[in-house]
Amino acid sequence: MRIICVAGARPNYMKIKPVLDALEAHGAETFLVHTGQHYDPAMNDVFFQDLGLRPPDRFLGVGSGSHAAQTGRVMTAFEPLVDELAPDLVVVVGDVNSTLACALVTAKAGPLLAHVEAGLRSRDWSMPEEVNRLATDRVSDYLLAPSEDAADNLRAEGYHEYQIHVVGNVMIDTLFANLDRAKASDTLSGLGLTPGSYGLVTLHRPANVDDPEILAGLLKGLGEVAAHCPLVLPVHPRAAEKIDAIGAPGGIRLVPPAGYLDFIALQAGARIVLTDSGGVQEETTALGVPCVTLRDNTERPITVEQGTNVLAGRDPDRILATALKLLDDPPPPRRPALWDGRAGERIARVLLDGGTAATRPRPT
Ligand code: UD1
Ligand code: UDP
Repeated sequence: MRIICVAGARPNYMKIKPVLDALEAHGAETFLVHTGQHYDPAMNDVFFQDLGLRPPDRFLGVGSGSHAAQTGRVMTAFEPLVDELAPDLVVVVGDVNSTLACALVTAKAGPLLAHVEAGLRSRDWSMPEEVNRLATDRVSDYLLAPSEDAADNLRAEGYHEYQIHVVGNVMIDTLFANLDRAKASDTLSGLGLTPGSYGLVTLHRPANVDDPEILAGLLKGLGEVAAHCPLVLPVHPRAAEKIDAIGAPGGIRLVPPAGYLDFIALQAGARIVLTDSGGVQEETTALGVPCVTLRDNTERPITVEQGTNVLAGRDPDRILATALKLLDDPPPPRRPALWDGRAGERIARVLLDGGTAATRPRPT
């Protein structure tokens, strides 16, 4: 079977790696297509090195732009590639613009489409990712859900049972595959940190970083947390200039975006994590590290119900109160079912047993 696997932005690389590995282990002919949505070495190259991800077979080089411009550029570049490579199947992961763009092209071009991380819903239409998730699921043949709650969302939306497969969480496959290596690295000592002595922060959601007033409120709340536990903040390029303009409160150490192994080492050693990232909510749950999510909602409620995550929104007082509670009384580590390091293998079995577009009717 000929299969295109798509990646393009930071949270894609650790999701596509276990899928590619498992498909190849089962003898599929795979092509890795990189859209180029992220391109800085710290947002891109370091992940290929750290994860041992092979160089992309094709690079679309789309770069940054408005949602329409970026999505359109990926579509325009991906369409001829689908004609040229004539895959039986295209695999997209997550919820970034590259995911949606390649999904839309595939749905019209003919190959089957598989969405890894299907069924996640924040029910917040102001998030660009929520639009991407809903639209990608709608045109997918295979809906590969990380957990039962995601599958329930799909059932409630009327998808066919034969489309839905609860396969577990690919991001956790990659986490477990690299955890020992990350912990053995000199990341913490290189920053003068010791395990359990610091908190880790990430911020990059447009709703948190684009408006300077909202960002200033978040930094104020984080500054108050830092008075109790010093914080390290690897700065996403989207937020860099805006944080510089406001200035970070004392106790918050700004560092460049971290590579994968460095960031896993930082998470595993943290006393607490404060984040608006989707993936980091999952990784902290798998690691059993307390997590304060700086958002009012999450598309990953399982990390709250069965993990270490608490939603705190953006109010500085609530952020401080939530962080202090978790520092005083860390939640017990729990791990959702099927977050066991074997999701990639389950996905390969589903996809390779599933037939091709010639044998599999498109859902109506
Ligand atoms: C994107 C995803 C988001 C994901 C995040 C992960 C969409 C709609 N958003 O958000 O879901 O959580 O990636 O990190 O797809 N930039 C650089 N260098 C880079 C990449 C980006 O400087 O390598 C800067 C550019 O100024 C760019 C801005 O960051 O305009 C935003 O990049 P973009 O890919 O559009 O969205 P993200 O905020 O990174
Ligand atoms: N990550 C990283 N370095 C960082 C921040 C995050 O390697 O400085 C990793 C993190 O461990 C997780 C993924 O990037 O595997 C999450 O991506 P991100 O937060 O950019 O996107 P989201 O998950 O919110 O879409």
